[in-house]
Amino acid sequence: MKKILFATSEAYPFIKTGGLADVSSSLPKALAELHQDVRLILPNYGALKHNNEINFRSEFRVGMHTVRLLETKLPDSEVIVWLVDCPEYFGMNGNPYVDEAGDSYPNNAERFALFCRAVIAVAMNRIQHDWKADIVHCNDWQTGLIPALLSLEYQCPQTVFTIHNIAYQGLFSGLMASVLRLPMPLLSQNGLEFHGMISFIKGGLVYADKITTVSPTYVQEIQTPEFGYGLEGLLIYRNNDLKGIINGIDADWNPENDLFIPQKYSINSLQNKVINKIALQTQLNLPLDENVFVIGLISRLVEQKGIDLVLDCFPALLSLPIQIVILGSGNKDFEKQLSQFSAIYPHKMALSLGYDESLAHLIEAGSDVFLMPSRFEPCGLNQMYSQRYGTLPIVRNTGGLADTVVDTLPNTIKDKTATGFIFNEESPGALLETIKRAVLLHSFPDIWIGLQTNAMTCDFSWENSARQYLELYESIE
Ligand code: ADP
Ligand code: GLC
Repeated sequence: MKKILFATSEAYPFIKTGGLADVSSSLPKALAELHQDVRLILPNYGALKHNNEINFRSEFRVGMHTVRLLETKLPDSEVIVWLVDCPEYFGMNGNPYVDEAGDSYPNNAERFALFCRAVIAVAMNRIQHDWKADIVHCNDWQTGLIPALLSLEYQCPQTVFTIHNIAYQGLFSGLMASVLRLPMPLLSQNGLEFHGMISFIKGGLVYADKITTVSPTYVQEIQTPEFGYGLEGLLIYRNNDLKGIINGIDADWNPENDLFIPQKYSINSLQNKVINKIALQTQLNLPLDENVFVIGLISRLVEQKGIDLVLDCFPALLSLPIQIVILGSGNKDFEKQLSQFSAIYPHKMALSLGYDESLAHLIEAGSDVFLMPSRFEPCGLNQMYSQRYGTLPIVRNTGGLADTVVDTLPNTIKDKTATGFIFNEESPGALLETIKRAVLLHSFPDIWIGLQTNAMTCDFSWENSARQYLELYESIE
């Protein structure tokens, strides 16, 4: 049994801005089910939501700050969660990384450096805890300094660093090296330095024993200039220690027992799915029509997700016999343009700006197709949720989307492997043509039900991926 400390900047249901939060609760749970002693550690943000009891464990110093370690459990599991409490850095009540205008907090370097040092104190059993990690599993740039700083320690745990999105690197002015008291040996070009700046993600990529990312296709992509954001050379250099392990999805995303949707359904009662469509239309003030083709989209509204491609399609898309339902928040310009279209086409388009877990489930259950025209997508979760709900994903051929969706073609219809619709070119035209292809096929119910059945029977459970992580931990010498 390994003692695994899983370090992350977000975890569902405590705090979530994207898929990292889903992975950070599902993967530890899946590892615990494989009989591993796994503990989750994250900052105690002001906005953190919790129902379980929280207990004080210890108090210790990190530089000038007093940090308290609090303990709770992941809901519906025995996984212990440690919260790093430092109100002057994490006490604010909003998004963990950005202010209301969407700008990064000016002290993010200090905030996450403190978090990393607190994780190290816990991992090394410096706080009289009687628990020393065998493995510290780090996730994204916010945890990047952990492998770097641990590399200087005597008898340190082994480290794994998972890249969920290489576009976010945690780059800060070179002057921060002294503010953060980063040891000299870490500051070279072969260390944290990146074009005169300090790169937190390089701490993970250079110093971790093993690097993973969240799909086999993204592993290949990040080793190219187009997707590597300047780190492709380093990743090629570390190729032997780099592995792609696809994310799974949590059992909460299942139409058979989803508590957020008015009508549960399964592969054997697919006819009941339409009750959720009517509920969705009712909730969002769209005309009630069980036959209309409903397109769902739930996303951070950022360029990565191809929101501009959708906007560029709009007048033509909205002239088709469809309804489109969008839930998201992010880039203010995208929010404004989407709002303008929904004001012009209120009978065809419903927009909900903000974050809404329950509406996200209803959209998955009530739509016919789900749109994910991402420019790049390390893994992506919604295309897998969609398949489980019999809501066929329309995706671009990239990253985890390419690994988890099978395009509908004559041969894949015939061999019953088709689960969605894929397009290659990063253009509004290609997206629109693919949506039209789906609209057309939707008018053949026998074929459509076959596709839904294929999609709903795919196995996206975490068990298989958790086993791959375990093998990886065990392979570190
Ligand atoms: P990313 O992490 O890049 O945002 P993923 O597909 O991995 O993309 O995960 C996104 C997760 O966040 C999904 O669980 C999705 O349902 C959820 N999500 C994104 N935006 C919203 C929103 N506005 N309201 C509710 N859930 C959202
Ligand atoms: C990132 C990626 C997304 C992935 C998620 C969880 O946010 O953008 O593709 O699914 O992390 O790994």
